[in-house]
Amino acid sequence: MAQQTVLVVDFGGQYNQLIARRVREANVYCELISYEKITEKIAETKPIGLVFTGGPASFNEPGAPRIPAEIFSTGIPVLGICYGCQLIAGTLGGAVGNGPREYGRRTLDITDGKSKLFDGVKAASTCWMSHTIYIEKLPEGFKTTATTETCPVAAMENADKKLYGVQFHPEVMHTEEGFKMLKNFLYNVCGASGEWTMSNYVERTVKELKQKIGDKKVLCALSGGVDSAVAATLIHKACPNLTCIFVDHGLLRKGEAEEVVRVFRDEQGMNLIAVDASKRFLTKLAGVTEPEKKHKIIGEEFIRVFEEEAKKIGKVDYLVQGTIYPDVIESGLNHSAKIKSHHNVGGLPDVVDFKELVEPLRLLFKDEVRRLGFEIGLPKEIVMRQPFPGPGLAIRIIGDITAEKLDILREADYILRDEIAKNGLDGEIWQYFAALTNIRTVGVMGDERTYDYTVILRAVTSVDGMTADWARIPFEVLQNISDRIVNEVKHVNRVAYDITSKPPETIELE
Ligand code: XMP
Repeated sequence: MAQQTVLVVDFGGQYNQLIARRVREANVYCELISYEKITEKIAETKPIGLVFTGGPASFNEPGAPRIPAEIFSTGIPVLGICYGCQLIAGTLGGAVGNGPREYGRRTLDITDGKSKLFDGVKAASTCWMSHTIYIEKLPEGFKTTATTETCPVAAMENADKKLYGVQFHPEVMHTEEGFKMLKNFLYNVCGASGEWTMSNYVERTVKELKQKIGDKKVLCALSGGVDSAVAATLIHKACPNLTCIFVDHGLLRKGEAEEVVRVFRDEQGMNLIAVDASKRFLTKLAGVTEPEKKHKIIGEEFIRVFEEEAKKIGKVDYLVQGTIYPDVIESGLNHSAKIKSHHNVGGLPDVVDFKELVEPLRLLFKDEVRRLGFEIGLPKEIVMRQPFPGPGLAIRIIGDITAEKLDILREADYILRDEIAKNGLDGEIWQYFAALTNIRTVGVMGDERTYDYTVILRAVTSVDGMTADWARIPFEVLQNISDRIVNEVKHVNRVAYDITSKPPETIELE
């Protein structure tokens, strides 16, 4: 049976991916598409429903996104959000116009408790508004189903035609009953059966991979990061002839290289080639202080080592890429052909002799990749791993890189991670790490004068790494981390906490 699909039609709204993720969280598969492709995607996917996102345009202005009116006569249920709601009204003969700015929390009053959209929803609840355009006249056949103090049409519907519009944003957390409303639309109006779960995904994908790949030769670069780990493990479940190559560039955190070998070779039973290239990388990096040069050397050397190993294996049928859905969306919605190259493995397709790429996570959001990871038995340390840059600790050591500095940083970083975990803060902080500066200062330990390094602690909260704020770690925790670092790590006599947000800083130091 074909998979039920909802199309989330993008009009440029800032919450477009969030809407898609919420639909998936409701166990309904959806795809995020540009409004310009709506007709062809409907023909291709035969969706059970359409959700129109918000967008920055104003319906009446020239060049505002429009869609063919016939779409509203196909019988496919539609939920329009913000701009999506105005688009329904404007296209079907209603009127929209400017009104007072309505931004932030508002009380939503349901005026029609019988609406399928509001089944089980409180008569008054908080919703999140962000608009200046209002529905001034409803299209024929529509009625108002909710209002706010300033917005006379906060929700409208034509239940016979299964067309629904909301001026507020049900997808954001601030809309108290928003997720319930989305589920009502998906289940009560579109007739979703809730089949999109990670266990179903594993079953379906393993079956497809078995059929497609069988015992053909597959090659995968394992970085230890969550995407390549989950992709490789999924393929391993389906295909007997998978080889993974793990290049240890010697710039990983304490215990990480050992963990990769333990999890994938010993526990999962994969055919894993682990290459210790640490000396090679150190030699190449000797004396290099310029950040961009470090990035370049590491990227190039990584490709070279991988190429040498891949040559030993010879031609393979498939090369695994850990591309995930946000990368696909980014390329699709921007109408650009370039897919962001995957962390650590960009450039590999150029040096590996393969017939086809296989991307088993192409349809998944990051949170789904993590749930899938747990589903297929990967440990928490891999599945919940915080982002880690491809060039590793090299861009967390200011100045030149030596084996000694790497050891100092590994130990300091390990203490930070240990204390964060012990204090139960790992769930709230998005990324946290230590960095080693090339500043040496005078200190006193016992009765001895020291002249040693300064370690910087960096911890940030973020949603996607694009912007970040420094994490408000309790002083007592910082105190402990500092005490332990100066006591347990040789050649560090000073610890500083970085209290700058991004922008103007970046998360990494180089
Ligand atoms: P920045 O430092 O740009 O970091 O604020 C944003 C996010 O990207 C990660 N990052 C990298 N990842 N190669 C990577 O694979 C890199 O060169 C790199 N630089 C930064 C960083 O850890 C953060 O999550």
